[in-house]
Amino acid sequence: MSEEQIKNLEEQFEARILRDDKIEPKDWMPEKYRQTHIRQISQHAHSEIVGMLPEGNWITRAPSLRRKVALLAKVQDEGGHGLYLYSAAETLGISRDEMFDQLHTGKAKYSSIFNYPALTWADMGAIGWLVDGAAIINQVALCGTSYGPYARAMVRICKEESFHQRQGYEIMLKLANGAPEQKDMAQDALNRFWWPSLMMFGPKDDESPHTAQSMKWKLKRKTNDDLRQQFIDQTVPQADILGLTIPDPDLKWNEAKQGYDFGEIDWDEFWQVVKGHGPCNKERMKARVNAWENGAWVRDAAMAYADKKSELKNKQAV
Ligand SMILES: [Fe+2]
Ligand SMILES: [Fe+2]
Repeated sequence: MSEEQIKNLEEQFEARILRDDKIEPKDWMPEKYRQTHIRQISQHAHSEIVGMLPEGNWITRAPSLRRKVALLAKVQDEGGHGLYLYSAAETLGISRDEMFDQLHTGKAKYSSIFNYPALTWADMGAIGWLVDGAAIINQVALCGTSYGPYARAMVRICKEESFHQRQGYEIMLKLANGAPEQKDMAQDALNRFWWPSLMMFGPKDDESPHTAQSMKWKLKRKTNDDLRQQFIDQTVPQADILGLTIPDPDLKWNEAKQGYDFGEIDWDEFWQVVKGHGPCNKERMKARVNAWENGAWVRDAAMAYADKKSELKNKQAV
């Protein structure tokens, strides 16, 4: 293709983005758009399946049958989200094996929040309330993203996330209104998950290397700082209803901006965890790699079964 032709295609592409057209897998797209989307969608998929680990850890210890059923369903949903997203990423020309390889070798990132441990049952409440709550805010913004398969996956995922958020909040509500020990557990979980939840929106806008391009391509519809502010403004009144205290002495309503001012995030901790030095990075990767290796026989058996079936079908057709 001549340079002139590529320039033409690029102009048409930018015009489509401006018109809010969805970009579909077979459409022409700039290579950088493809690569950026592969990176973001696969990281998102990895976050869903690694996110199954801290909560999966509590399924056998849920305090009642009802709690067990809800948690089991939630963890299963996260696996499903991973599957939609891996499929969306595959439409851009990367294979699932390659994505798993990137995850297992540490080349690909996933959300750092899952590198924090889930120490008590109250953490199931805090994770649902705060982590799924923060995920919804990020993901609702993505329902309008320009890449069609990603946007459609997000619509479905968001519906399930709001159930996750509510079941987490309900656990918190129960504990916060329970015995003093239960309320302390809920407060402790909030103390540990509050700041990592704020970090889920990523670095500040002026330190976020991909924000400008991602906004232009409508991969991102709102900036990290805007989304973080929205999360705080929405969550503080919910903590008030619980009668719990947000662990931030600088948190204060600002009448002029109609939002809360808040304290400085520990960015040093943020980068430490991103770089692999969080409390559970090694443990999470070990669990993933083990699951992959121990599941090899299941994949082999499924392939052998599929081959036999198609052989049989071919014989019958003859
Ligand atoms: Fe999810
Ligand atoms: Fe979720």
